[in-house]
Amino acid sequence: MPDGYNLRIWKYICKKVFLCKKACYVRKLTVASNAPCIELNDGNKMPVVALGTGRGTATESAPVDEVRHSVYWAIEAGYRHIDTAAIYFDEPQVGQGIADAIANNLVTREELFITTKLWNDKHRREQVVPALKESLKKLGLDYVDLYLIHFPISVKEDGSPDNVDYLETWQGMEDARELGLTRSIGVSNFNTTQIDRLIANSKVRPAVNQVEVNPTNTQERLVTHCQERGVAVMAYSPFGFLVSRKNPDAPPPRVDDPVLVEMANKYKKTTSQIVLRYLIDRGLAPIPKSTNKKRIAQNIDLFDFSLTPEEVQQINKFNKNVRVIHPKFWKDYPNYPFWE
Ligand SMILES: NC(=O)c1ccc[n+]([C@@H]2O[C@H](COP(=O)([O-])OP(=O)(O)OC[C@H]3O[C@@H](n4cnc5c(N)ncnc54)[C@H](OP(=O)(O)O)[C@@H]3O)[C@@H](O)[C@H]2O)c1
Repeated sequence: MPDGYNLRIWKYICKKVFLCKKACYVRKLTVASNAPCIELNDGNKMPVVALGTGRGTATESAPVDEVRHSVYWAIEAGYRHIDTAAIYFDEPQVGQGIADAIANNLVTREELFITTKLWNDKHRREQVVPALKESLKKLGLDYVDLYLIHFPISVKEDGSPDNVDYLETWQGMEDARELGLTRSIGVSNFNTTQIDRLIANSKVRPAVNQVEVNPTNTQERLVTHCQERGVAVMAYSPFGFLVSRKNPDAPPPRVDDPVLVEMANKYKKTTSQIVLRYLIDRGLAPIPKSTNKKRIAQNIDLFDFSLTPEEVQQINKFNKNVRVIHPKFWKDYPNYPFWE
């Protein structure tokens, strides 16, 4: 039997072993529900489902805690990829959610994949690294996994059009990557012409193009174009008009669409899960946004079924080339991407 002093040491060791076992157990559970990854053209691995955090209710002057909770719930539910942007004004809340999850042993930083984006008023080469450093400070991180040019257009600080070539911006992105501030670099909202011009004139090929893809805006040409060039596609606004968009004239499908309901019944899933799986089965990485704990969990419960190629085609037939995100106010700005 240990004497008094040794007994205290013995109890201390037992407590440490118990806590360590508990932490490993928690980690095992969450890692087990991890989403699979897409291998990017630079060798980095990007988890296929990302939690969307844009369109929360945060503003620059009024941040809210809902994003902090959603990030935590998402990591708890098995997400390893979080999507944010400087313009969402929620990087501090995203960072707090990540810090909470790490502090509670749900994950390590290395197990997470964090994407953020450069806003349009920071497109000069010398502005890119400082802009990313500012995002990192807000996120409380040393590096992000993916940094994207949010739009190919550039604006002045007052929002009026500027004329910075995105090739110049890309040089700043390459600088950021060389400094180790981001593991991968990519773009968002680039059309096929812009993707080709970027590839033809840069040292580092974009790893990702993040664009809108959903059943009413299937983007088959753009998606194939990117995938053929080794550029992975992240799908934003993945639900399209399935969910309430305050637009009664928006084209189908809605949540109760008979085609989707039939597939949902077949696979014992919801119609929103069918739409997310449709995107995954096209090789895309959807970014569902939710601040609701139950829906966050539902939106990653996608890996025990898959659609047949015929079912993917059936959903493609909803296409009307109608966008959820259509910033027409920029249509006369240089490099406006949505003409194609
Ligand atoms: N690169 C870009 O230019 C760009 C542009 C737009 C968006 N994005 C990114 O993509 C993310 C997603 O896009 P989004 O926010 O436009 O659209 P979305 O994810 O297609 O839709 C979000 C809406 O769907 C609801 N919802 C979520 N899960 C649901 C479910 N299982 N069933 C029913 N309703 C559900 C959400 O409400 P609750 O929160 O109440 O669940 C919210 O109202 C953004 O958050 C952002 O990260 C990028």
